[in-house]
Amino acid sequence: MLEVKQVRKEYHDVLQTVTAVDIDSLIIKDGEQVALVGPSGSGKTTLLHLISGLMTPTVGEIIVDDISISDMPETCRDIWRAKTIGYVFQKLNLLGSLNILDNLLVAMSFANSIPKRERQQWASQLLDQVNLSHKTAKFPHQLSMGEQQRVAVVRAIINKPQLILADEPTASLDQDNALLILKMLRQFARESNSILLVSTHDQQIMNEFERIYSLRQVKKGVS
Ligand SMILES: Nc1ncnc2c1ncn2[C@@H]1O[C@H](COP(=O)(O)OP(=O)(O)OP(=O)(O)O)[C@@H](O)[C@H]1O
Ligand SMILES: [Mg+2]
Repeated sequence: MLEVKQVRKEYHDVLQTVTAVDIDSLIIKDGEQVALVGPSGSGKTTLLHLISGLMTPTVGEIIVDDISISDMPETCRDIWRAKTIGYVFQKLNLLGSLNILDNLLVAMSFANSIPKRERQQWASQLLDQVNLSHKTAKFPHQLSMGEQQRVAVVRAIINKPQLILADEPTASLDQDNALLILKMLRQFARESNSILLVSTHDQQIMNEFERIYSLRQVKKGVS
């Protein structure tokens, strides 16, 4: 279960303080699938970063399976994140110097959740599901944006995480591929009873979800 309790995240610069996220309470149970919506700048990416422990809140607490993320020492948090969280970044963050298969193998070696001898086969199986089995030896810059996005989605689920956070995972995809990716994320989450939280602007994607969590526009104040 994911609990976001009275969490606020402020960004400070010389001229102003931006309250990027201000949430009283958000609870998502295991197996629940939620669309995270809100206008550009409403804090979707910030919230996903907070939940993954990549960023800490200014105030408040984020609890995953009874563990408070901000209480974890940073080294524990990195291992915990690799094992527990599957993250599709808005900017994808594939490693440019590694080919597609190696990008996936590195993600698996960080988490160490999949037995070594099964890793290559598991990567091929997932790449096949997104019609990319012919691209394993290519480097990210040799793939289209949509193909890179599909690799990023495969990387996010490859360690069988309990919590899948996807930041506009279908933004560079045509309608068919967007639905393919969403189907894959949802099916994986269902089979492993994982939480799926997907930020999106796409009405067709939103319509697929039973639960929608909306963020409001951020508040700006003079510091
Ligand atoms: N590093 C930062 N420093 C200062 N302000 C920031 C920083 N990152 C984000 N912000 C501000 O915080 C607010 C929320 O940004 P965030 O990226 O979380 O929004 P978003 O909902 O993901 O937007 P989009 O739909 O465009 O991706 C915005 O007003 C943004 O300008
Ligand atoms: Mg964003």
